[in-house]
Formats: sequence, structure tokens, C-alpha cells
Amino acid sequence: MTLALEDIIVASPDEGVVVDPMAWFAAPGPFELEVGCGKGGFLLSRAMANPDIRMLGIEWANKFYQFAADRMARRGITNVRLMRTDAKPFVMRHLPAECVSVLHLYHPDPWPKKRHHKRRLVQADFVEAAIRAMVCGGHWLVQSDHAEYFEQIAGLLSARRDLEAVAWEQSDGSPADDWKGTNYEIKYAREGRAIHRCAFRKR
Ligand SMILES: C[S@@+](CC[C@H](N)C(=O)[O-])C[C@H]1O[C@@H](n2cnc3c(N)ncnc32)[C@H](O)[C@@H]1O
Repeated sequence: MTLALEDIIVASPDEGVVVDPMAWFAAPGPFELEVGCGKGGFLLSRAMANPDIRMLGIEWANKFYQFAADRMARRGITNVRLMRTDAKPFVMRHLPAECVSVLHLYHPDPWPKKRHHKRRLVQADFVEAAIRAMVCGGHWLVQSDHAEYFEQIAGLLSARRDLEAVAWEQSDGSPADDWKGTNYEIKYAREGRAIHRCAFRKR
């Protein structure tokens, strides 16, 4: 059954508003967040394989956001919502504490030039806010094709006493049988690029 775009899209919150993710769905349940979901390929496959979870994809590029929202509406996906916004202020100021059971961060923009590194999403302040938003026992999964940015992210997360590294396969966000790969993962794997992965659990 096709859905209306309005059933999928959630407006970016106004300044000062803390959202209630469960209010976006018909019934409460575990809530997962994908930051920078691009065209939504991963969101679609994970949501279809796991109807009991609720997912929000955040994407700031209008073209990708529209594509992903349209895709969910046409497929009648009821457990995904899409928001067009900048993930940094959203996670830092608009998400309540302890609401995210799995945080998916796949192929974040690496901003490879050194003078642009300050534009990278994953910095200490974002890490702090993301952990605050995770439930205890929740997972943060990271995947990247960019070795240096990956090392930086893995280093920031490894240094946190409130996180413990877990095996990717044992993290509840990536059961092997429903992992179809993200759009970038599929593209880069075809090119033979190495894909780096790590997973952490909030203590
Ligand atoms: C390299 S693509 C990866 C897309 C997808 N995760 C995948 O693996 O196929 C990075 C995506 O993150 C989005 N993005 C980057 N920074 C963002 C931010 N601060 N907030 C929301 N989206 C962001 C970009 O627009 C882009 O679509």
C-alpha cells in the first residue's frame, strides 16, 4: 500500500523543542537513528527486515532526502520517518536523553582536505550528545571507506569510558542475515575499496 509523503516526513524541530520520537509512530517500540541516510537503501532494508523497530533517517541534502522519503512512501514502509536537517544540532539539542537503541553512522562525509576537517560531523561534542541520546545497552555502529576519518572516529569512541567496543557481528544493529549494505558500501565494495567497521555498546 502506498503511503502519502506526509506519513513519512517529519519536520525539523524549531529551536528549543525536544522531540518525542514515539509520537511519530502508531505504537511505541525500539527506536533507531541513521545519521546521513543518503538515498535510504539501508533504512529500507533494515526497516523491512525488522518491522518491530522504528527508524528515523536524517539527511540534509534535499535531493537524497526527497528520494528516500518517496521510496518509503511508495513501498508503504510504516516504521521509517525521514527528516531533512543537520544531524549535529538535531542530536545535540533536539533529541531526548536515552531514546536511541541503535545509532547507525555509515560513510559519514570525510572532508578529506585538512583545512576542512573541522567540518567533520564526528567531533567530541557530537560524540557526547550522541551517547547521551543512546539508551544504556544501546549500540553505535560506524562504517567508513575513509581510513583516516574512521581511525579518528574509532579513537574518539574508544576513549569514552561510557562505551565498550563490541564485535560488529554481536551488535544488535547488524544481524548478518538482514544486512544488505548501504548505497555507498555497495558502490565502494564494487570498486574493491576497504570498508572499515566498528561497534560500541553504551555501558
Ligand atoms: C557519503 S554519504 C553516505 C550515505 C549513506 N549513509 C550510505 O552509506 O550510503 C553521506 C551522507 O550524509 C549526509 N550528511 C552529511 N553531513 C550531514 C549532517 N550533518 N546532517 C545530515 N546529513 C548529513 C550527506 O548529505 C550524504 O547524503
